[in-house]
Amino acid sequence: MQRGLDPSTLVDQLTFRSAMSLLPTGVTVVTVGRRESLEAVTVNSLTSLSLEPLLIVVGLRLGGRVATRLERADAFAVHVLAADQRHLAVLFARRDRPSGRTADLTLRTAETPRGNVLIGGALVSLECQPFATHPGGDHLLVVGRVVAIHGVGAESTAPLVFHRGDYERGCGTLSGSIAGTNDDPISLGSVRAGEDGR
Ligand SMILES: Cc1cc2nc3c(=O)[nH]c(=O)nc-3n(C[C@H](O)[C@H](O)[C@H](O)COP(=O)(O)O)c2cc1C
Repeated sequence: MQRGLDPSTLVDQLTFRSAMSLLPTGVTVVTVGRRESLEAVTVNSLTSLSLEPLLIVVGLRLGGRVATRLERADAFAVHVLAADQRHLAVLFARRDRPSGRTADLTLRTAETPRGNVLIGGALVSLECQPFATHPGGDHLLVVGRVVAIHGVGAESTAPLVFHRGDYERGCGTLSGSIAGTNDDPISLGSVRAGEDGR
C-alpha cells in the first residue's frame, strides 16, 4: 500500500464501474476516416471542455483501433446518437465491429469536405481537429478543436442515454432547450465554429 493513502479510499474496478454507472450519459460514436479507411467506436466519455477555443475531450482505450488512428489523424468526428440508434451503439462497442465500407453503409454516412463522415440520423455531429492528447491511465485523453457542428436544431429528438449498464430513451421535448440561450456557442442549423461571430 502507498504511504499516506487512506485504506477506505481503495476501491476495486467493479465498485468503481458500479458507481460510475449511476451517472446517466449520452452515447456517441467517434469516427475517423471515411470510405475504406472508416473506423468507428461507441464512446460515452465525451465532455465539452472549453469555449475559447472550442474544445471537447474523449477518453479512448490505449491501443484500441480508434485511439491508434487518432494519434496520426488530422480530423475526427463525434456523433451524438438518437434514442432509436441503440443498435449502432451496441454494434460499434463490439471488438469485431465493422470498419471501412461496411461501417459506412451501416452508419448511412454522408461525407464532409473536411475528411469526416456524418452519421445518418445522429442528433448532432461535431467535426474536430486533434488539439492535444494526454495520458489517462489505460486510456488516452483526446482533446479536439471543434471546427464544424451539424444537425443542431434537432433538440426535440430524444437522445440515447446509457445508465446503470443499459440503454434508455432520454427526454427530447424539454422546453427552453439549449438553442435559446444567450451564450450558446451552437445555434440552429449547421454551422462552422466561429462562423456566427462568437
Ligand atoms: C455505452 C458505452 C460507452 C463506451 N464508452 C467508451 C469510451 O468512452 N471510451 C472507450 O475507449 N471505450 C468505450 N466503450 C467501449 C468501446 O465501445 C469498445 O468496446 C472498445 O473500446 C473496443 O474497441 P477497441 O478495440 O478499438 O478499443 C464504450 C462502450 C459502451 C457500450
